[in-house]
Amino acid sequence: MTEKAHPVVAIIGAGPAGLYAAQQLADSDCHVILLNRDVKPGGLAEYGIFFDKYKMKNGLRKQFKSILAHPNMHYFGNVSVGSNGDLTLSKIREMADVVLVTVGAQGTKWLGLPGENLPRVYHAKDVVYHYNHLPPWSERTYPFGRKVAIIGAGNVMLDIANYAIRHLEVDEVIAIVRRDPSAVKFTRKEMSLVYNNLDLPALDAEIERTRLVMESVGKEPEAAKAFIVSAEKRAQPAVSATRFRFEFLSNTIHIVGNHEQGVTGIVTEDTSLQLRQDGTTTRSVSLGTTRFLPLDTVVFAIGDQVDGGFGLPTTEWGEFIKHPRPQFPIDGTSYEAFDPKVARPITGVFLAGWARQASTGLVGAARKDGHNGAEAVLDYLATITPASDPTTLINAITMIQPHSVTKAQIEQLETAEQTAASEQNLPEFKFDSNQAMLDALAE
Ligand SMILES: Cc1cc2nc3c(=O)[nH]c(=O)nc-3n(C[C@H](O)[C@H](O)[C@H](O)COP(=O)(O)OP(=O)(O)OC[C@H]3O[C@@H](n4cnc5c(N)ncnc54)[C@H](O)[C@@H]3O)c2cc1C
Ligand SMILES: NC(=O)c1ccc[n+]([C@@H]2O[C@H](COP(=O)([O-])OP(=O)(O)OC[C@H]3O[C@@H](n4cnc5c(N)ncnc54)[C@H](OP(=O)(O)O)[C@@H]3O)[C@@H](O)[C@H]2O)c1
Repeated sequence: MTEKAHPVVAIIGAGPAGLYAAQQLADSDCHVILLNRDVKPGGLAEYGIFFDKYKMKNGLRKQFKSILAHPNMHYFGNVSVGSNGDLTLSKIREMADVVLVTVGAQGTKWLGLPGENLPRVYHAKDVVYHYNHLPPWSERTYPFGRKVAIIGAGNVMLDIANYAIRHLEVDEVIAIVRRDPSAVKFTRKEMSLVYNNLDLPALDAEIERTRLVMESVGKEPEAAKAFIVSAEKRAQPAVSATRFRFEFLSNTIHIVGNHEQGVTGIVTEDTSLQLRQDGTTTRSVSLGTTRFLPLDTVVFAIGDQVDGGFGLPTTEWGEFIKHPRPQFPIDGTSYEAFDPKVARPITGVFLAGWARQASTGLVGAARKDGHNGAEAVLDYLATITPASDPTTLINAITMIQPHSVTKAQIEQLETAEQTAASEQNLPEFKFDSNQAMLDALAE
């Protein structure tokens, strides 16, 4: 077979979705060209999963390494795609037969509250990227005070709580939750990491405070409490005296403070629940009463949205727009990008992972979505005559970004980081800037 007989697939983003999709496409005889903003592959598996989950992270790194070893795979780290990136999506479309976008959800979601721009108000993802050593977040500082509010009740809220409780050892962490105790989204396993810091009398008081509202819509306060305290079974020993508690049925409406002192508190509004017309789901309604909580740090852990500057149309809630009537659906789901302005699919551009559905699911879900996205791409490729030559895109990348990093260089970096870790007697070492990584490669 000549070079040109193999379709050229450009995959943008080497997180779990992009990597597992790449594996499937490379196995299906495609030339896969992976472009990744970060020097290293892995996305949130490398820079999101909590830093001390060494076993899980090393297991995933091993898998990613073997995926990249495929001879049909061409990896280029330190290459950003987008309107302000090294290459635009439309340029890449000209040089590949098909493009799979797996850039994750890189935008941050805010509530537009007064005071959001005060010192010590952060979005969880920025803090997570910082403590996981992802440049340039690793080079910035995110100082915490002693009393921290985290808005949200998902696993990311617990990651930030874990960081504040077990690593920063702050005095108090308060999770501000807009719904009731039965609506928490975190898992028991994640709760078990900070369970021994949970103020149980305060939890009981919150269960009592929200009981009437819960019962009025058929929810069971005892079952909600039982789920939270079921984390006790595998609870980790506490390492700090941090007090951890929840404020349920609370909407944050104002962050109070000034630019000299930073945050000094938040104002929350009490909410109640109302049954929707379907008789099962509930809507949160404001009661008009407010409370002031004095504190010095606020972290939003309310999920992420996609990067609006990437070059694809987005919905108002921060997702890339998918074709509502897909030509290549997988399990009834659309993986095709869509332009609502002309009411047409963006031909040859597919989406998978958190780029398809922001902030949804674990690595296993991203893996499945990557596989499905790859299936959709293969179905599309079966309808066209591939005409691209991989060297065209590869040459363009290396010309535009001379500091792009190949898979062979990723292995060198890994060796350099392992050497540094053992020299410094650390469980893990990561270079904190792209320059440090490039310097290590130059050595
Ligand atoms: C804080 C946090 C902790 C988590 N912990 C766990 C856990 O413990 N266990 C678990 O199973 N799951 C965990 N998850 C979920 C898991 O990380 C995700 O399901 C998964 O990483 C999503 O994969 P993805 O490939 O869609 O996106 P991502 O992992 O976000 O990967 C996106 C990739 O695209 C690249 N990229 C972004 N923009 C561009 C661009 N413009 N041009 C080129 N490349 C670009 C990035 O460099 C990145 O490599 C966690 C998520 C978060 C946020
Ligand atoms: N260790 C792990 O396994 C791990 C760690 C981190 C992340 N993850 C995964 O990554 C995914 C994303 O996690 P996540 O925690 O970001 O998302 P999530 O699970 O969807 O939780 C987001 C939280 O923010 C709240 N929220 C959303 N919009 C809000 C608003 N406008 N005002 C107030 N609160 C708001 C949500 O409340 P509502 O329910 O009311 O919308 C919810 O409590 C999940 O699948 C998660 O399991 C896994």
